[in-house]
Amino acid sequence: MAYSDKVIDHYENPRNVGKMDIADPAVGTGMVGAPACGDVMRLQIKVNGQGVIEDAKFKTYGCGSAIASSSLATEWMKGKTLDEAAQIKNAIIAEELALPPVKIHCSVLAEDAIKAAIQDYKSKQSPESDITNNTA
Ligand code: FES
Ligand code: FES
Repeated sequence: MAYSDKVIDHYENPRNVGKMDIADPAVGTGMVGAPACGDVMRLQIKVNGQGVIEDAKFKTYGCGSAIASSSLATEWMKGKTLDEAAQIKNAIIAEELALPPVKIHCSVLAEDAIKAAIQDYKSKQSPESDITNNTA
């Protein structure tokens, strides 16, 4: 299957590959897997005192579309508030990357990772709960 130019660009020059300290209270980590293919994506955000995502990193063990989706997601999340970042849906990722139907689940993985990272960050802010969602 032919990948779009944007997928190839993100695949060959992935943005924001890396890892943050999972124990940092300012860091939210989302770790998700795709049941369809077994690919795994880790997406992390660092949130400042104003609730703005000042940095985002990812590591994806998966196909080109999954790598491109997560690379794009980290680019889009930077500088956004948590609420704004939560609006990044798989459909707009898939549209931006021109993903074919069989690769839509790769962008769903990115949306799931975004949600999981935000949720993890939020759960760290409430001392009541020590729930983590890094068990995927
Ligand atoms: Fe996941 Fe493509 S099936 S690598
Ligand atoms: Fe499964 Fe891309 S994440 S084929």
